[in-house]
Amino acid sequence: MEENRKTFYITTPIYYPSGNMTIGHTYTTVAADTMTRFRRMQGYDTYFLTGTDEHGQKIEKKAAEAGVSPIEYVDKIVAETKELWKLMDIEYDDFIRTTEERHIRIVQKIFRRFYEQGDIYKAEYEGMYCTPCESFWTPTQLAEKDGVKVCPDCGRPCQPMREESYFFRMSKYQDWLIDYIETHPDFIQPAKRANEMLTNFLRPGLQDLCVSRTSVKWGIPVDFDEKHTVYVWIDALSNYITALGYGTEHDELFRKYWPADIHLVGKEIVRFHTIYWPIMLHALGLPLPKQVFGHGWLLFGADRMSKSKGNVVYPQPIVARYGVDPLRYYLMREMPFGADGNYTNESFLTRMNADLANDLGNLISRTVAMIEKYFGGILPAWDVSAEDNTGNDLRKHCAELPALVDAQMDRLQFSQALAEIWKVIGECNKYIDLTQPWILGKDPEKKGLLGNVLLTLAECVRFVAVLIQPFMPSTPARIFTQLGVTDESLKTWESLKCFGMLPDGIRVCKGEALFPRIDVNKELEALSGKPEAEKQEKAAAPKAEKKEKKEAKHDEPEFPAEIAIDDFYKCKIQAARVKACEKVEKSSKLLKFTLSLGDDGERTVVSGIQKYYDPAELVGRQVAVITNLKTAKLAGIESQGMILSAMDKNGNLKLVSIEEGVEDGAIIG
Ligand code: ME8
Ligand code: MG
Repeated sequence: MEENRKTFYITTPIYYPSGNMTIGHTYTTVAADTMTRFRRMQGYDTYFLTGTDEHGQKIEKKAAEAGVSPIEYVDKIVAETKELWKLMDIEYDDFIRTTEERHIRIVQKIFRRFYEQGDIYKAEYEGMYCTPCESFWTPTQLAEKDGVKVCPDCGRPCQPMREESYFFRMSKYQDWLIDYIETHPDFIQPAKRANEMLTNFLRPGLQDLCVSRTSVKWGIPVDFDEKHTVYVWIDALSNYITALGYGTEHDELFRKYWPADIHLVGKEIVRFHTIYWPIMLHALGLPLPKQVFGHGWLLFGADRMSKSKGNVVYPQPIVARYGVDPLRYYLMREMPFGADGNYTNESFLTRMNADLANDLGNLISRTVAMIEKYFGGILPAWDVSAEDNTGNDLRKHCAELPALVDAQMDRLQFSQALAEIWKVIGECNKYIDLTQPWILGKDPEKKGLLGNVLLTLAECVRFVAVLIQPFMPSTPARIFTQLGVTDESLKTWESLKCFGMLPDGIRVCKGEALFPRIDVNKELEALSGKPEAEKQEKAAAPKAEKKEKKEAKHDEPEFPAEIAIDDFYKCKIQAARVKACEKVEKSSKLLKFTLSLGDDGERTVVSGIQKYYDPAELVGRQVAVITNLKTAKLAGIESQGMILSAMDKNGNLKLVSIEEGVEDGAIIG
């Protein structure tokens, strides 16, 4: 049966080992790994290729600067790259290096074939070259900046270049390629990139491409004209087939996996992958990859992060502090695949708290804790006599979740796939608030219903654990341990075919918090090496900053030196859960809360903390509220209490938080 499985071949670009890999390279590699794991879980026979693009002038220069030979230079970076991928839980099937014999031999063979069949000819070349991009430009393609001719891709100066070279007759294939792109709408994704290629490059007319160099020694020699080396992009693009043994006697992998299902690339190299590469393949008589997906850039500040620009974030310190899964989650969740997005430590830490600690972490700890508390840790059997209509929608939604996730993954919409999963997580948390298991638990007659509620939650948690596995490879095992699921067949994609597979009688096992809440400001300091407040103050006008701080403060009363304990007990302070929270219209300061006090019902409280919190992030969280305060009208809304908060050292208001396990409505004092 093995041979009949559908195959799935995915690649990342092969990266330049000119410096260490950044969070940008990690982004593509994590995406490819996630996709591979997802397809493998679905039963596909997957193959995931990554590697390094080691030839060319840029590497030659870097090595010279470092005073080592090019191969010594790249060997070190390749070793570190492999370490990084191991750290990130990347499971590639092969790592190709363009300096390997298996690659060099076949590139030479391909080049010779192009020459012999007349796709390549020799001529004198005159043009401009961008070394950082390893790109040739004709005078009309160049951009101009301050009177200097610059690379239209990266804006850096180009050098004039005149030499005898081999040229590839790209023009010959132009009409074929235009037609191919127009008749294969899935080939280039997102679709707008296909339009860019057609409008900017193909329809204006393709130039023949210079595909050899005599001035670059660090490259693959043209084997029939040894003073030439093969242009790095011809060398590099070939990796996708040389790694599979194309052109050798052992081409089983090639025959099995080619054409690739997806070449994942950053948008800046879509041109090479959708113009040169298809033409090369067509000239070799090979089918084209099914899809080239050009994703967006992780920006750092205003600019694209890049080794050559020096504004770079590396993943290692982040992983060392928080583990791999939160970073993988963030990279796949934060920005839609295809669009650009800013990497900031703050958005990373905020997601850790909101999505991982609050939404996911709390769901699991609440579910497990309640099974412990009400059923001695043993999952009860479904009680058919106890109706649970509240849970019908949730169970139905969760049963549909695998298909919803699959539909998003088909389009490489990782962020949307996670959003689908998190919708169910959110619904589970709401379901807990609605069914109020702590109240059912007080009534022996409701035991059956309570059991059904907890079973529903446990099964939803199992679905979630299975579905997040491709994104967060080590978290599901921790969830299954807490849930008491040991049966491997309950951890599979197959096992999600129907809802309600979790057998009764398994024993849950309360463990450590999956993702402990973190103090964002403290962590920001730790990650940046300097206090965040200091950095922000430098950027903003210092005076304005001060004024804001004053405004934000509570009106501080004059405290008496001493009060009697009875004075304190006049305040009724209670734990309350945020059921809903929204901005008060026409106010830039106020948030309107709907709070649940458990048995004491609900109330509305208005609080001036809009500047410091996103209302959505507060839903589900417990706060401390004074509930016997005389009501006050704020922006026309009657506020029935006061939420306790304190100002941090940066002048931001922080809600007083309550440790887990306190019931809504509990008296604080
Ligand atoms: O271009 N945001 O190698 P390279 C998003 N060797 N993705 C990023 C990124 C960022 N800030 N930084 C890097 C090359 N990437 C060639 C490829 S393939 C035959 C040859 C990712 O080291 C993204 O995938 O410059 C981008 O396309 C790639 O790394 C560029 O890596
Ligand atoms: Mg690049």
